[in-house]
Amino acid sequence: MSYYLGIDVGTSGTKTLLIDEAGKVLAESDANYPMEQPRPGWTQQDPEDWWKAVVKTVKTVVRKAGVDKTEVKAIGLSGQMHGSVFLDKDDQVIRPAILWNDQRTAEQCDAITSAAGSREKLIGMVANPALTGFQAPKILWMRDNEKRNFGRLAKVLLPKDEIRRRLIGDYVTEVSDASGTLLLDVKKRDWSTKLLGKLDLDADLLPRVVESEEVTGTLTTEAAKKLGLTTDCKVVGGAGDCAAGAIGNGIVKKGLLSTSIGTSGVMFVHSDEPSIDSAGRLHTFCHAVRGKWHMMGVNLTSGGSLQWWVENVLQGLTGIAAAKSYEAATREAAAAPAGSGSLLFLPYLNGERTPHADPQARGAFVGMNLTHDRGAMTRSVMEGITFALRDSLDIIESLGVPVRQIRASGGGSKNALWRQMQADVFGKKITTLAVEQGAAYGVALLAAVGDGAYRSITSACAATIEVAAETKPDAKAKATYNKLFPVYRDLYGNLKESMHTLAEMQ
Ligand code: XUL
Repeated sequence: MSYYLGIDVGTSGTKTLLIDEAGKVLAESDANYPMEQPRPGWTQQDPEDWWKAVVKTVKTVVRKAGVDKTEVKAIGLSGQMHGSVFLDKDDQVIRPAILWNDQRTAEQCDAITSAAGSREKLIGMVANPALTGFQAPKILWMRDNEKRNFGRLAKVLLPKDEIRRRLIGDYVTEVSDASGTLLLDVKKRDWSTKLLGKLDLDADLLPRVVESEEVTGTLTTEAAKKLGLTTDCKVVGGAGDCAAGAIGNGIVKKGLLSTSIGTSGVMFVHSDEPSIDSAGRLHTFCHAVRGKWHMMGVNLTSGGSLQWWVENVLQGLTGIAAAKSYEAATREAAAAPAGSGSLLFLPYLNGERTPHADPQARGAFVGMNLTHDRGAMTRSVMEGITFALRDSLDIIESLGVPVRQIRASGGGSKNALWRQMQADVFGKKITTLAVEQGAAYGVALLAAVGDGAYRSITSACAATIEVAAETKPDAKAKATYNKLFPVYRDLYGNLKESMHTLAEMQ
């Protein structure tokens, strides 16, 4: 028998699972780690924490599944995108990794845009505008602000590719995650030597780039020993967590779109062509499906806003355990009316990416009156998060990208209220999967493809992923949300100046 491991190095923790050739999950394991916030808007992690979590979870799933180590044939890697792991010539980590939701690089984004000639020219080279979370501005930030560290810099890796380095002893990335560096020629699926030249960055700083299902190497003797596996075990390219999650949801064909609510919120649509939003509101990245692309909109504080509301605000008042607080809070929210009595919430607690690309955007409740209670406020947080996803959906549809089916995943699919809310806010039917496993599952399938168990990732998805249920929009709630959404959409423009003044004071 052959078995495959999927490892997703996320922001709050690492999730690892083991599947058999038929795609059945035999065991899974999670390990969490902290995120440092040394200043408002700065986010960092220690790659050593990721590695410890990988070792622990791999050993746990192999033990739990009771399989022989020689039968674990390949590993797929997924991870939080855009982060930067800075290594010196001896592969020592120079400073804590800077993460996808870090907002320190506004100045460097401007510098990249002017080095490219204009925003349009930059989009022409790498399909996307410069956004604070992307990797390239982080490299320039280090060059501008930490000269000694920059002097030592030999390689910059994405989070999952740092794990790969520790597994196979080589520097390799793959097209989907590389797209989020801002240094990939997304149409050609290779590094943009043009932009690297304009930024005066050495191409040697970057790893080699492959397609997601390609085998990048096998485990080193040291890694095999540490994980309890063999040196025959292959490691395939894998994917950034958005593309990996989309594969785990079967989003591998035209017309399919997934919504995913985790810390961030992602609207992800498959595209046969590298369709580009010339306004740069949506990202156009390579898909983990060979020769295909995807567009996506990303909200930086999606489930993160509900987490803030429940854990930092409500839980502090009630003193109930976190898991129970979510249950109690969403029960109260379900009792509040659709539209929360015309109370709106802007989920921009750490700036926003789609559609505003504004690190100084801030959160707000607007429209409060004396009748609003805790349930209405929780519901309005959930509705604000869902409206933010609709912003991306509207842009996707306005660009003529077909959306035949919306598949919900993450926190937004597990909760009945949120499934219904998505159907009502998007005005479309929402489907959910029989078994949802997310990004770790997606890359375990890529590992199976890389090992030859399936001909392609599309056939692997067809054989393993099954839609189980659908939620239809409720006409009355849909009408309420259609009336509220334009008000929500105007709020950002109306409040922008005050948000910026406050952000500067913070
Ligand atoms: C995608 C993005 C986030 C992270 C979260 O562009 O920034 O979804 O990948 O893990």
